[in-house]
Amino acid sequence: MGDPREKLLRKREEALIGGGEQRVASQHAKGKLTARERIDLLMDENTFCEIGAFVKHRSADFGMEKQKIAGDGVVTGYGKVNGRLVYVFSQDFTVFGGSLSETHAEKICKVMDLALENGAPMIGLNDSGGARIQEGVVSLGGYADIFYKNVMSSGVVPQLSAIMGPCAGGAVYSPALTDFILMVENTSYMFVTGPNVVKTVTNEDVSSEELGGASVHSQKSGVAHFAAANEVACIQHIKSLLSYMPQNCEEMPPKAEYHIQNEERTGLMNIVPENPNQPYDMREVIENTVDDGSFFEVHKNYAENILVGFARLAGRSIGIIANQPAHLAGVLDVHSSQKGARFVRFCDAFNIPLLVFEDVPGFLPGTDQEWNAIITNGAKLLYAFSEATVPRITVITRKAYGGAYDVMNSKHIGADMNFAWPSAEIAVMGAKGAAEIIFKKDIDAATDKLEALKEKEKEYADIFANPYRAAERGFVDEVIFPEETRKKLIQAFEMLENKVRNLPRKKHGNIPL
Ligand code: HXC
Repeated sequence: MGDPREKLLRKREEALIGGGEQRVASQHAKGKLTARERIDLLMDENTFCEIGAFVKHRSADFGMEKQKIAGDGVVTGYGKVNGRLVYVFSQDFTVFGGSLSETHAEKICKVMDLALENGAPMIGLNDSGGARIQEGVVSLGGYADIFYKNVMSSGVVPQLSAIMGPCAGGAVYSPALTDFILMVENTSYMFVTGPNVVKTVTNEDVSSEELGGASVHSQKSGVAHFAAANEVACIQHIKSLLSYMPQNCEEMPPKAEYHIQNEERTGLMNIVPENPNQPYDMREVIENTVDDGSFFEVHKNYAENILVGFARLAGRSIGIIANQPAHLAGVLDVHSSQKGARFVRFCDAFNIPLLVFEDVPGFLPGTDQEWNAIITNGAKLLYAFSEATVPRITVITRKAYGGAYDVMNSKHIGADMNFAWPSAEIAVMGAKGAAEIIFKKDIDAATDKLEALKEKEKEYADIFANPYRAAERGFVDEVIFPEETRKKLIQAFEMLENKVRNLPRKKHGNIPL
């Protein structure tokens, strides 16, 4: 029988081996860490508790009964990140390529249930060859079980997915159902069908990296919210992200202690150029307003005409959505509307107040935009803001034109406070375009048409290219100097701290997807 204590010790040791030394060496040679090394990096020291280390698969086909490895290709459990509880699964590529068997899926589902019932974030570290080929449909069922739990957990606890190796076929849909996807450059990829299938079906020659690498998904498709240079940086991003979030939808995000001081920010005074058509970097406005170094940008290289990200203001977590005049003049288009809408909905689901910096000349015109449904996609952003019940504040730094004025968190769709800088222009469109339309007859009749246009343009600008018409109506609550912005925002968010707004009773709304 042997010594029972010895037996347990031996089993514990066996479970740590995974797929064996050779496969671990091959993992390292690819620039990848093992499942356990990743967990060690993520969790606070000595806090990780493993669940199901002895679980083995049940398959008896293709000689699998002779290849049973404790843990079955995934390490699952719970622990602390910066002192706060999280649940994790980390796929072990050294065991059957991290492929997903029935029992592998059961282990993931078990921690997902715990995360949901105990109200703490769920973190998936993905590194897998997909469905365990030897198990067939049982493995597909396991995926579907995970998908279902992803959806049930959505909006209840934050769900983060790091892609640290292959992620192919239907396996991509669990990460896609979570709140944030982080990828590692050069060692991770995601696609529904791989290069070989692509070649057969469309005759395109494409590498895994070109088809679904970190740069493609963080710049072109927007599937990934972050691309990290390596796995250590990726795990650091996870920790930073978590620091802005509450544990679940019933809690408020963490708030660092803060004592109000001299909050004047003179750095904000000269950012907006005098020429209204000259671009500037809205990041400078954000960074000069929020707590030093706290802006944590999401989707940085995707749809760069809108900026989204977390920050802290007087120690309080906020979500920022800002037009970016330095890119496509900050115009709203299909991708930027989707990017903004998704971020708004995450923040609203998890009680993170919203701050909008607005400088938007309108929606991007053209067949490309119309044919790609700018109507439906612009409506997503409009819907997301309108539905959000968290405290919502807008600062108009310059242009707030046309439909985009309404969409970008205007008072009319439920914003709580709207501020405008003296440089704000709140109008149906730019003065030149407006003058050309409404004064067409006068301009055509003039001997010096150019001079007449200029005159009419000035006339229109004098009336509308400022924040005062909107302020007279109460559409803008206060016109403020740029350097006052930080203080005004700190005071307003504090004032809104206990905001309660309920939506009408319904099963769920029908956001234009
Ligand atoms: C079982 C698998 C496996 C799988 C890899 N392995 N994928 N075992 N099921 N899906 C095993 C290999 O046999 C090998 O075992 C070890 O993992 C490492 O694999 P290698 O091929 O040596 O590694 P590498 O060269 O790095 O290539 C990795 C890979 C490749 C690109 C992921 O293994 C691959 O193409 N695998 C198949 C991918 C796939 O088609 N999966 C099904 C997708 S469909 P040994 O013993 O040699 O170490 C799908 C449907 C999900 O997932 C649907 C959900 C709705």
